[in-house]
Amino acid sequence: MNVTVSRKAHFNAAHRLFVKEWSDEKNLNVFGVCSNSNYHGHNYEIIVDVTGKVDPVTGMVIDLKTLKDIIKNEIEDLMDHKNLNLDIDYFKKVVPTAENICIFIWNKLRIKINYNKKLEVTLYETPRNFVKYNGN
Ligand code: NI
Repeated sequence: MNVTVSRKAHFNAAHRLFVKEWSDEKNLNVFGVCSNSNYHGHNYEIIVDVTGKVDPVTGMVIDLKTLKDIIKNEIEDLMDHKNLNLDIDYFKKVVPTAENICIFIWNKLRIKINYNKKLEVTLYETPRNFVKYNGN
């Protein structure tokens, strides 16, 4: 009997989507205004879903305070109010699209959460645009 426990969090960050080998024109064609050379920000929202068995003693899948602290320490402290392209080494080589940010967050959380639980991360770049990753 699996139950999914979810925690929402958010961070504000700037990014620019571009491939440095491409011309400004090609970057604009592919990435639109997200390739603006002076960067721009998003209010990112994340939902972290942890699925597993309910512990018969504690009644919990994962302590939500523990999950809250993991998200704060691993994600918010690292990414909030940062320029993703400039401040995070990973995005010096990887384009910081919602897809790639979601994978990055999932990988950081995965090593902090017991492997007997499933993990899925949903990342909202805007209220209408969001992506999900579960390691598959
Ligand atoms: Ni953008």
